[in-house]
Amino acid sequence: MRIITFGTFDVFHVGHVNILERARALGGHLIVGVSSDALNFSKKARNPIYSQEDRIHILKSLRCVDEVFVEESLELKAQYITEHNADMLVMGDDWEGKFDHLKHLCEVVYLPRTPSVSTTETIEVVKNLK
Ligand code: CTP
Repeated sequence: MRIITFGTFDVFHVGHVNILERARALGGHLIVGVSSDALNFSKKARNPIYSQEDRIHILKSLRCVDEVFVEESLELKAQYITEHNADMLVMGDDWEGKFDHLKHLCEVVYLPRTPSVSTTETIEVVKNLK
């Protein structure tokens, strides 16, 4: 079974590895769409800390990740699912319900987020270190 997931995966942390490992365990082949720098800027109004090339490099080095591609637009999820022949879309439950309209293309599963860690929070903590 082919699983697809999407995200920025900037300042890679344990919440990222947890969701990727759990997603891979549901299928056996995990494909990750990584937000481009431009898409990230349009979503979050700031550039990622790590460039898309480095974020891709980190993801490709993981045992639980089989394929990585760049997500250029949030509007293209249906196209990416079809192009990659995905049987299941996995997202963190911060996205609960947001991708239900794709259920005619593949199974859609939301997994619980790892508590108490996020890229945004980590950046804030580091900024405020004295
Ligand atoms: N994720 C997770 N648990 C966390 C943080 C992220 O399961 N504690 C999941 C998200 O639900 C998503 C994927 O990891 O499916 C990529 O999330 P991303 O937005 O790149 O990471 P965040 O840490 O949430 O980034 P930010 O704080 O910038 O929103």
